[in-house]
Amino acid sequence: MDGKRIPIVTDVKMTEADQKAYQINNSARKKGITHEEMVKVYNNWADKYDNDLRPGLYNGPEIVVNALTDCLTKDKRRNLKLLDVAAGTGRVGELLLKIGFECSMDALDPAEKMLDILKSKGIYKRTWHDSIGYHQTEIPKDEYDVVLSAGAMAEGHIPVAAIDEMVRILKPGGILITIIREEYLTKIEEYTGKLEHCFQKLVNEKKIKLVSRTVVPNYSFQNNGVVYIYEALSTK
Ligand SMILES: C[S@@+](CC[C@H](N)C(=O)[O-])C[C@H]1O[C@@H](n2cnc3c(N)ncnc32)[C@H](O)[C@@H]1O
Repeated sequence: MDGKRIPIVTDVKMTEADQKAYQINNSARKKGITHEEMVKVYNNWADKYDNDLRPGLYNGPEIVVNALTDCLTKDKRRNLKLLDVAAGTGRVGELLLKIGFECSMDALDPAEKMLDILKSKGIYKRTWHDSIGYHQTEIPKDEYDVVLSAGAMAEGHIPVAAIDEMVRILKPGGILITIIREEYLTKIEEYTGKLEHCFQKLVNEKKIKLVSRTVVPNYSFQNNGVVYIYEALSTK
């Protein structure tokens, strides 16, 4: 892959179909939605998800893959074991394959129908049909070199507690990458004052160190995103 970046589509004019996608996307993250209700929305949307959330409207996978490309030095890009958390239909994996990223990819997601589409693409090795952040997963500790997620932080989705679990399953020296819509840091109770506090606590405990925190434009429906990259420490 050696530095290959995915172009980010920015000049998007919302069509009528896009407006519908926008509404479904919002319905999966409406205020007060339970985790179970959210999973149902994705299961019902799975067949149309890739088509509806086209690049430009939603650039989460592209942004996260570029972040991974940027933060790994050339010598660290081989033989990696990666977990795509909230992998959905597997768009992150498709992009990593497209740019020739050499790694073994696993996926974790609670929405079975999304995972069916992901499996049909034949990119991921193992799939964990599970949610992260509500209980400890069956994944052994220190399992992955890279744990990343796109589009996973929203009402009813990944709670802050998922960060501890992601760090648990990362190998020392491993990389954690996640992204959140910037406005959710102040608009969603689960994250307000809590997400960044959680990262800072893990930094203070010498479990992780900050690699970068970057605000990016055009993450989702023209909203900014905040990309967090942390490295797991040997003292974790
Ligand atoms: C907007 S989609 C993003 C899918 C994919 N990462 C992408 O960028 O296209 C959100 C996905 O997060 C999954 N999800 C939500 N909460 C989760 C949790 N706690 N653990 C794992 N996956 C979760 C949903 O099932 C859904 O497939």
